[in-house]
Amino acid sequence: MKNKEIILKGKGFILRPYRKGDEFSLSEIINNKNVQNLLRSKYKKFTPKEMKKNIKSSCDNLFIIDINGLASGMINIGADKDHSFKADFGYWLSKENWGKGIMTEVIKLATNYYFKKLKLRRIYAYTYPQNKASSRVLIKNGFKLEGILRNNVLKNRKMIDENLFSKIK
Ligand SMILES: CC(C)(COP(=O)(O)OP(=O)(O)OC[C@H]1O[C@@H](n2cnc3c(N)ncnc32)[C@H](O)[C@@H]1OP(=O)(O)O)[C@@H](O)C(=O)NCCC(=O)NCCS
Repeated sequence: MKNKEIILKGKGFILRPYRKGDEFSLSEIINNKNVQNLLRSKYKKFTPKEMKKNIKSSCDNLFIIDINGLASGMINIGADKDHSFKADFGYWLSKENWGKGIMTEVIKLATNYYFKKLKLRRIYAYTYPQNKASSRVLIKNGFKLEGILRNNVLKNRKMIDENLFSKIK
């Protein structure tokens, strides 16, 4: 199901599909160390071209977080390739917009949409234990901590634990 025409409206932002040129602000945001350090991404730095490629290669249910016309972050869900009615998702936002309640509402709108449109029964996400804000936005949206996966991911040449959160229907 493509989200080409889908726009979800929030307070002070909209969730919309990718538009040409978004890659410029998005690559700048993700190259901020404060953002990059909290992501699972393999890349140290994204050029706009790499960002565009990354967006194009992801599934059709990626939303751009648009604040006053500027691409300011994104939320994306993995494809449910094996039709197991479950999928994981990720999200990030420009540093200057943190702490305003935006991602709490983004997750609410997007996960409601994903559960319904993709007929999912389980949505899950990983957070680094030190990323309190990321765990908090999930908890505020009814996600439950299932456990801590020890040494689950290699980040900056170190093995790091991850929290596993899920919400089910
Ligand atoms: C995580 C992130 C998406 C949160 O977005 P946001 O719009 O700032 O989140 P909100 O403002 O909706 O909510 C943040 C919540 O975390 C809380 N919080 C923030 N920093 C915290 C800290 N150090 N300790 C405890 N709670 C914290 C806030 O108080 C708020 O909770 P509250 O409403 O109960 O007070 C954003 O910080 C981000 O993009 N980070 C970098 C990328 C990232 O971490 N992505 C997720 C990877 S798993």
